[in-house]
Amino acid sequence: MSTLITGIAELTTNEPGGPLRDAAVVLDGDRIAWVGASADGPVADERVDVAGRAVLPGWVDSHTHLVFAGDRTAEFEARMAGEAYSAGGIAVTVDATRAATDEALAANLLRHTEEALRQGTTCLETKTGYGLSVADEQRSARIAAGTAEEVTFLGAHLVPPGADAESYVDLVCGEMLDAVAPYVRWADVFCETGAFDEEQTGRVLSAAAARGLGLRVHGNQLGEGPGVRLAVEHGAASVDHCTYLSGADVEALASSDTVATLLPACDLSTRQALAPARRLLDAGATVALASNANPGSSYTTSMGFCVSTAVLQMRMTVAEAVYAATAGGARALRRQDVGRIRVGARADVQVLDAPSVTHLAYRPGVPLTAAVWRRGERMR
Ligand code: NIG
Repeated sequence: MSTLITGIAELTTNEPGGPLRDAAVVLDGDRIAWVGASADGPVADERVDVAGRAVLPGWVDSHTHLVFAGDRTAEFEARMAGEAYSAGGIAVTVDATRAATDEALAANLLRHTEEALRQGTTCLETKTGYGLSVADEQRSARIAAGTAEEVTFLGAHLVPPGADAESYVDLVCGEMLDAVAPYVRWADVFCETGAFDEEQTGRVLSAAAARGLGLRVHGNQLGEGPGVRLAVEHGAASVDHCTYLSGADVEALASSDTVATLLPACDLSTRQALAPARRLLDAGATVALASNANPGSSYTTSMGFCVSTAVLQMRMTVAEAVYAATAGGARALRRQDVGRIRVGARADVQVLDAPSVTHLAYRPGVPLTAAVWRRGERMR
């Protein structure tokens, strides 16, 4: 089955040469088969005229925590009344997640994944990290692998209340890693005061790398610290948050393959400063934007919101923000097949009810996603 999408006012491809005007795209099966001028569009089984709208790759959301149960509205209300965010809230979700059935966890994950898809997210990563026992982390990984395209093991999210930190890190690096390995591609560590320190983070990253997993790090979320440096030293694909960065952190990111994944919805929801996107981009670092959808620090699946915040409040240009939320996310997941519109790429495409991606920031808060194809299949 092939589909010609024509009448595209502005086609963001993320390829050299900038956006194409008056363009068309052919999706054939699950791949993009042709990209060019509307006037040259070849015959296809189906023709969809988007009548002067903008088309861009589906969002690549490279950081979510969607295997969870429970609700943290009260914590959010307290924060909005002036309380600080702390890693300790994770334990509330751990209790609710452990108490939930497999079916409830899978349904919750699917509900949020579908919510993201309706808003244009066609490739989504999600993590374990609300189980924190061998059985609960393995269950979370298995459930995540049933729905999400990219799965990350985050046993090192928090030392479970009452546990000894060193023994827990031993468990994460040994039995827990063995139990989740069949289901995950990545391992992650929350390197922060109140979570895991430099030595513990290094141990988990080394153990995961020895198992053949790709690495990610939650770093520099609540203050400066060793997270960025460790991520770069261990060759992590991405270090996520990057809200508080030293000059050395920025330089280290700029001269490495580690992507700086910024999570603006989290910074807003936790009332932190917004991550220094401009400093990173000006230094030459690769930046991704992701939702960090989770019930505690960032309860949104909206990549459009992240893009508009990045433009309006983090001084990214629209082009930089859209790239970061598509091709940047793909780089953070070390993927070549998503985040771009080019021949051979996966047929993940979204249409905006607007003539240009500029409207994502020009009309903040307006749900602009008009149509979505994932793997060539029309999803909305
Ligand atoms: O990325 N920082 C650690 N983990 C999540 C928060 C999870 C939670 O508060 O439940 C984050 O913000």
